[in-house]
Amino acid sequence: MTDNTVTITDNRNGAHADFDILDPVVGNSCIDVRQLTSKLGLFTYDPGFQATASCRSDITYIDGDEGILRYRGYPIEQLAEHSNYLETSYLLMYGELPSAEQYQTFKTSIKNHTIVHESLMQFINGFHNDAHPMAMMVGVVGALSAFYHDSLDINDPKHRDQCAHRLLAKLPTIAALCFRHAMGQPPVYPSNELGYIENLLNMMFSFPSAEYHVSPIAARALELIFILHADHEQNASTSTVRLSSSSGANPYACIAAGITSLWGPAHGGANEAVIRMLEEINDPGEIQNYVSRAKDKDDNYRLMGFGHRIYKNHDPRATIIRKAANDLLDELETINQPLFEIAKQLERIALEDDYFVERNLYPNVDFYSGIILKALDIPLNLFTVVFAMARTAGWISQWSEMIVDQEQRIGRPRQIYTGIENRNYVDISNRGM
Ligand code: CMC
Repeated sequence: MTDNTVTITDNRNGAHADFDILDPVVGNSCIDVRQLTSKLGLFTYDPGFQATASCRSDITYIDGDEGILRYRGYPIEQLAEHSNYLETSYLLMYGELPSAEQYQTFKTSIKNHTIVHESLMQFINGFHNDAHPMAMMVGVVGALSAFYHDSLDINDPKHRDQCAHRLLAKLPTIAALCFRHAMGQPPVYPSNELGYIENLLNMMFSFPSAEYHVSPIAARALELIFILHADHEQNASTSTVRLSSSSGANPYACIAAGITSLWGPAHGGANEAVIRMLEEINDPGEIQNYVSRAKDKDDNYRLMGFGHRIYKNHDPRATIIRKAANDLLDELETINQPLFEIAKQLERIALEDDYFVERNLYPNVDFYSGIILKALDIPLNLFTVVFAMARTAGWISQWSEMIVDQEQRIGRPRQIYTGIENRNYVDISNRGM
């Protein structure tokens, strides 16, 4: 036995074996249980993988207790202050910040891939105009695989890069097309003159009949949302991308699977829930009633946008985005709208009220991102689409990392079988009622 092992003993029969402890650069150590079944005939039981590391990864580090989020070792605060979404995407994908030349080449490549095939428009036009944009995104992003047969070899690094660039470039175009379709408005093609975020806003909100100017404060607020949501290590949608690609499936289909997972209200829907809550409160005079309900042990009502499963002391992303939300509200002079007034008062209460302070229930990133997206006039059902666009950088980085990871196997969890052990088929005439 060495120091860096754990001995597992089966107390039923005394069988025991040693297992290595794997140490990360920072964070919790892991017991390497890969030989558990061959050594002891046991599986592990961990629904939701709360105590299971599914991979080794160099990309993102989170310490929920300390409120730390780092991409490739860089604190999120520094990236939010100095970087932009495209540069952050490069960092996530390739592991280093780009040189000026690398950045220029990357930017040019992304710009060159923003247009989607005209046939894809027919997919979008085929949806009813009240189709949920996430339903459209799942279908249309998955359908991209039908357009690039010639570059789907996931074992070819060039093909992988092409797929990654296409996804990063085309997601905003597809999202904007879905939005325009739902609004019954003409499509707006991407513009290579504009930055990544400005281009997205332009495709969403400009009209052929009137000039549209992207407000720098609005673009910056949206850019921050993109940077802060670009990756969050092995969350449900990222794990979905990894699991679906573990079978060798093509990346467009795998990212569509990630979008599907993100669509769930427990994952990507929190900022939408924030605005629905603010709309339900409706009147600043009603705030205290809702706060009392949230504090009442006999009422399972919760204030949306408060608390976090992982960040128990503070959400570093919330600290960063709070200022952007306030700047935007000031610029748009929407501060007096009842909805934003309610948000301000709720924030103040949560930061002062003992119930929230004692439990560390501070406003989380979704509280502020919900406010920003609402202030930008982005419809509620598009909020998760914004999240999906931002998370694309993380998904493709995690996918690329996984493809070349020699330790990865096709994902195949085990189970505890709880059904009937064995029985004989009974003919239908003998089955009774
Ligand atoms: N409003 C009122 N009370 C709350 C809230 C809330 N939003 N969240 C937690 N509590 C109370 C909870 O009742 C419990 O009280 P007590 O100790 O007296 O029983 C205590 O705080 C601890 O709650 P918990 O359920 O143990 O905390 P959790 O880690 O299981 O839940 C959470 C975290 C995010 C699910 C929860 O805070 C919540 O439901 N928040 C509202 C929904 C929300 O904003 N979700 C988005 C989170 S960020 C998503 C992302 O990053 O992807």
